[in-house]
Amino acid sequence: MTQPALSHDASPDQPSAFAADVRSGLTHAPQKELPSKYLYDEVGSALFEVITVLPEYGVTRAEERLLAKHAVDIVEHLPHDVTVAELGSGSGRKTRRILEALCKKRPTSYCPIEISRTALQLCRRELGDIERISIVGYERDYLAGLAEVSKKRAADERLLVLFLGSTIGNFGRLAATRFLRDIRNMLAPGDALLLGTDLIKPTPTLIAAYDDAIGVTASFNLNLLARINRELGGDFPLDAFEHVARFNPDARSVEMHLRATRDVTAHVAAANLTVSLKAGETIWTESSHKYRADEMPAIADDAGFVCSHQWLENEWGFAESLLVAQ
Ligand code: AVI
Repeated sequence: MTQPALSHDASPDQPSAFAADVRSGLTHAPQKELPSKYLYDEVGSALFEVITVLPEYGVTRAEERLLAKHAVDIVEHLPHDVTVAELGSGSGRKTRRILEALCKKRPTSYCPIEISRTALQLCRRELGDIERISIVGYERDYLAGLAEVSKKRAADERLLVLFLGSTIGNFGRLAATRFLRDIRNMLAPGDALLLGTDLIKPTPTLIAAYDDAIGVTASFNLNLLARINRELGGDFPLDAFEHVARFNPDARSVEMHLRATRDVTAHVAAANLTVSLKAGETIWTESSHKYRADEMPAIADDAGFVCSHQWLENEWGFAESLLVAQ
């Protein structure tokens, strides 16, 4: 079975691409699926911001604690004179510590790469006050943005790519290595990638993190059908679906699904699609893979990097790995 893709090479804002992906995902047999990138329209992105402060969802706070504690040490291990490119900067909140530590040492260019213009604006507002920083945003998908940043840098400048927040977990395992390899191919030897990964932890903790008590994650998930209704002329009855979070022990991932609570037939005008689900049938909307800190060196090696250092947060279980391009 294929993983719902977390794409890094297409803008989710093109209605025709969205319609085509909805059509192919909802006709996929035996498991209907929708790519997780479509969770993040304006409503979904706002709901995700709420998820990051939920008591059950420890991922963001763990990374913030880790960076608050170790940013100075992380910066000590970076090549000199780095330009920073961040893939999917979001609001930029989690990046502040690293940028402050870098800018204390020398003036630093920071290039957030985001397909969302709103996120880039937020990021500039959040980080613009750091002394000696210059921010140049790239409204692009990750790899196109990175190619541009890499092309524009001076010959003696090293690149530091930030890929934080455990977004790598939303790629299937093979796709994750492929993506890291794609990043590596845009770098020069000695450039670095700081990669945040959420670590495997007891199943009840994981399930609670993706099925919180007040239903924010459920709304985040259901918003995907609401978005199809809004943008593609769909008529999914939202009250006929419930949010499901389940742990897949083989993939070591938490899967989010939308389960039909009764037989449903819906139409999506822009996708020229009629889709039927039996009661109990699900649409797979996201996978969030969990890693062990000690598997990062082999993953790095596969992708053309060396994992030179790791910093761990043990209260929740989160790792920041520094990968150096070979
Ligand atoms: C963005 N990404 C790392 C989040 C995660 O934990 O996989 C997305 C998310 N989905 C549900 N809750 C959070």
